[in-house]
Amino acid sequence: MNGDEYILEMRNITKTFGDLVANDGVTLRVKKGSVHALVGENGAGKSTLMNVLACLYKQDYGDIVLNGRHVHFRNSRDAARSGIGMVHQEFMLFKDLTVLENIMYGFEEKTAWIFINKRKTKRKIKEICEKYHFNIPLEAKVNDLPVSMLQQVEIVKVLYKGADIIVLDEPTSVLTPQGVEGLFDAIRFLARSGKTIIFITHKLKEVFAVADTITVLRDGRVTGNVRPEDVNENELARLMVGREVMLQADRSARELGGVFLRAEDVSVRDKDGVLRLKHANFDIREGEIVGIAGVAGSGQQQLVEAIFGLSGVEEGGKITFLGQDITRAEPRERRRMGMGYVPQDRLGVGANALGTVWENSIMGYHISHGFKSKVFLRHKEIDEFTGRVVSQFNVKTPNIYEKLGNLSGGNIQKLIVGRESIQDNRLLIVEDPTRGIDVGAVEFVWAKMLEIASSGRAILLVSHELNEVMQLSDRILVVYNGEIFDGGRYQEKNDREIGLLMLGGGESDAG
Ligand SMILES: Nc1ncnc2c1ncn2[C@@H]1O[C@H](COP(=O)(O)OP(=O)(O)OP(=O)(O)O)[C@@H](O)[C@H]1O
Ligand SMILES: [Mg+2]
Repeated sequence: MNGDEYILEMRNITKTFGDLVANDGVTLRVKKGSVHALVGENGAGKSTLMNVLACLYKQDYGDIVLNGRHVHFRNSRDAARSGIGMVHQEFMLFKDLTVLENIMYGFEEKTAWIFINKRKTKRKIKEICEKYHFNIPLEAKVNDLPVSMLQQVEIVKVLYKGADIIVLDEPTSVLTPQGVEGLFDAIRFLARSGKTIIFITHKLKEVFAVADTITVLRDGRVTGNVRPEDVNENELARLMVGREVMLQADRSARELGGVFLRAEDVSVRDKDGVLRLKHANFDIREGEIVGIAGVAGSGQQQLVEAIFGLSGVEEGGKITFLGQDITRAEPRERRRMGMGYVPQDRLGVGANALGTVWENSIMGYHISHGFKSKVFLRHKEIDEFTGRVVSQFNVKTPNIYEKLGNLSGGNIQKLIVGRESIQDNRLLIVEDPTRGIDVGAVEFVWAKMLEIASSGRAILLVSHELNEVMQLSDRILVVYNGEIFDGGRYQEKNDREIGLLMLGGGESDAG
C-alpha cells in the first residue's frame, strides 16, 4: 500500500468508555479529494471515531497517520491546526455575534491593532468564500440567518482555520431539500478543489448522491468498505443493520373516528409581532395521522406551538381538544389531557443532556402522570417505565443511570420518541420523529406511529422529510406563508404536486 495515496489513515482505533467498546479496532483509510461516507446504526461508533480524529477524545489504542506521517495531537486545537475540521451536528455558533466574528473567533489574524486585524481577517474570509463559492453575509447576526446558512458558516469557519479534511456529522438532518442540494454542491466543489470530506449520514439516498467511498460501522467495528456503484440501497441498509430493511411504511387502510382536535381561525404572531400563522382551520380525527409539509419558516412551527400551548392564539381563534376549549390552557394542562409532544430541538426543549436516562424518560410527566407520590419519586414505577422505553425502542445505553448526553445522537432521539409514544396520549405531536436515526429504527418508528394511530389515538406529524409525511399521513396539510393548503389524502397527490404547494403554488384554503 502506498502511503501517499491516503491523506488520512486511522489504524486499529479502539476507544472505550468504561466497559463499553465504542470503537473496536477500527481502520479507516481516506483518499485525498474524496467524499468518504461513514454510515452505520445508531451507536455504531461513527461520532466517536471522528471525535478521536479531532482529538476531542483520546483513543485507547491505534494510530492516526496524516499525509503519511504519524500524528499525536495534544488537543483539539492541535488537530485543527493540522487540518482537521469538524462540523458538528449541533452548531457551535454564538448567536449574538456576527458571522464574521464567529468565523474569526479564537483565530484572528495576529496584529497589534485590533481594527486592522479585523479588516485583514475579513479580507481573508472573503477570499475563502469566493474561492469555494459560499455566499454568506459576513456582517449579519447569526441569530437572523436560516439553518442552511449557519451550516455554511460552520464550513467556512473550518476552512478559515485551515482544514484539509472536513468532517460533517449528519449535516443534512436540519436542512430542507433545497438546503441539502446546496450543501451537496458545496461538498462536490470542495472535493474537486482538493479538500477531503468525511460525511456521516443515515440517509441512503444522500450516500449515493455524493459519496465516492463508503465505510460501514456496526457495533464499533468496520463491516464493510464499498463503493456506491457496487451496492444498491437495500444491500447498503443490510450492511448497516445486519438484516433486511423495508424502506417503506407498511400501512393498511384505517377507519377514522370522531374529531379529537379542532382548530378554528387560529392565528399566531411571532415575538416580533409578525403574523406567522393566518386563520388556520383544520380537524384531527381519532385514528388519523395528519402530516404538515412546508418549507422551513412557513409557519409550521407556530402551528405546533399553538396546538401545544407554547404560543398564544390571536383573539377570535379557538382550539378544542376532546370537546374542551383549550385555547388558553397551559402546555402542562394539555399534557394532562393527553397531548404528547416530540419537539424538533431534542436537546433544547425535549431533554436534558446532563440528566440521566431515567430522568429524561419521565421528563414532563412526573407531575401529570403520577410518578411523584407527594414528595418521593416512585422509583419502582419509574424504573419499570424507563425499562419499557429502553427495550421497546431499542435505546442503546449501558443502564438507565447513564447520563443522557453520553448516548449517541440517534439513541437520544429514540428515547424521546419512545417516551412520548408509550405514554397513553390521545394526540401525539411529533416533529421530525426519525431525525438522526438509522434505517432499521426508521422502519420501527414508522410502524410505531401507524400502530399508535390505529389504537384510538391521533398524530400530528411535522417533518422535514417529505417522503416521511407522504408515507405516513392520512391527510396532508401544506403550510405556505402562514396559510394552510389542502395537500390531499394519502396518495392523492404526488411529491411534485405537494412540492409545488410548498412553494406557493396553491390557490384555495383547506377550510
Ligand atoms: N462520552 C461518552 N461517554 C460514555 N459513552 C459514550 C460517550 N460517547 C459515546 N458513547 C457511547 O459510545 C457508543 C458509540 O456512540 P457514537 O456517538 O459514536 O455513535 P454513532 O455511531 O455516532 O451513533 P448515532 O448514529 O446515533 O449518532 C454509544 O453506545 C454511546 O453511548
Ligand atoms: Mg453520531
